[in-house]
Amino acid sequence: MVLRQGLLTAARSRRLKKLVSTMPVSSAIVTRFVAGETADEAVEAARRLIADGLTVSLDRLGEDTRDREDAERTTKAYLTVLDRLARAGLTRGTEVSLKLSSIGQALGVDGDKIAVDNARTIALAAQNAGTTVTFDMEDHTTVDSTLAILHEVRRDFPQTGAVLQAYLHRTERDCRDLAHQDSRVRLCKGAYHEPPSVAYQKRIDVDRAYVRCLKILMAGQGYPMVATHDPRLVEIAGALAMRHDRSRGSYEFQMLYGIRPDEQRRLAGLGDTVRVYVPYGDQWYPYLMRRLAERPSNAGFFLRSLVTRS
Ligand code: FDA
Repeated sequence: MVLRQGLLTAARSRRLKKLVSTMPVSSAIVTRFVAGETADEAVEAARRLIADGLTVSLDRLGEDTRDREDAERTTKAYLTVLDRLARAGLTRGTEVSLKLSSIGQALGVDGDKIAVDNARTIALAAQNAGTTVTFDMEDHTTVDSTLAILHEVRRDFPQTGAVLQAYLHRTERDCRDLAHQDSRVRLCKGAYHEPPSVAYQKRIDVDRAYVRCLKILMAGQGYPMVATHDPRLVEIAGALAMRHDRSRGSYEFQMLYGIRPDEQRRLAGLGDTVRVYVPYGDQWYPYLMRRLAERPSNAGFFLRSLVTRS
């Protein structure tokens, strides 16, 4: 628990970020979780996964952008990767995931408006390419804004998906609001360091909340995206889908690139839709820290590789 909190705090440290980011992306621990730095490497990773019977969500790493030009650059980068995916004929099996704080949400008073404009530009490009966008969910202070932006963008692009985090006390209510027809909701446990006033702290409470949320989404009219590597939750999701007469293809499983790849292929082999979330880009530091925080053994391996390097 202490290590997890330390790593999640480190994810926000600019000094540590500078130190760790000088590691080449080829370092084993980074390449386990990140597909590469360029759009071409991301498209190549998508091609390999699709050839294995999986589907993909590409995420260009970057968050908490405080500079308007950076937000525009990120927006253009999404247009580029969507174009490359379309040219490669991969958009049927690949959508994109997007952190709104990377395209303007964190830019102060005008932030939400800038994020809406940029998100709409990306959603239009995705629609033209024959695919969709899902908005990632960041720390709890951004949830209201993210859901409001989702509402706005869905007016013209109703296929735009959202992420909800089961660890937040509010999420069952958000699940009820979003369990309607055509709504795509990715349910995850939640990866940020949140206070007890807004989030469950114990694993068991988070897992129970996840099941309650899953029940709402599976019983609803939308398209649940079950984002977890937890074997018990994967099993419960399958049972709930059966209970609600959901056919395969009316929901999907999602896992992160590099985590439980055998399980991803096993589920796909059974006929389930399995989407792999594939991050790429040079802004991998906070993403990597969150992955390390989820598993102490990852952190140990990473710290050893830093020490060996120095
Ligand atoms: P849990 O952490 O309990 O792990 C269950 C098992 O999975 C572990 O026992 C281990 O076997 C394996 N595992 C999990 N994490 C691992 C790791 N890092 N390394 C190695 N093995 C690991 N969060 C968020 O706040 N906002 C978001 O937008 C998203 N988006 C998102 C998309 C997708 C597709 C996924 C799968 C996850 C996210 N997340 C996220 C992250 C999510 O909130 C959560 O932190 C991780 O998925 C880990 O939680 P699990 O449900 O896997 O359970």
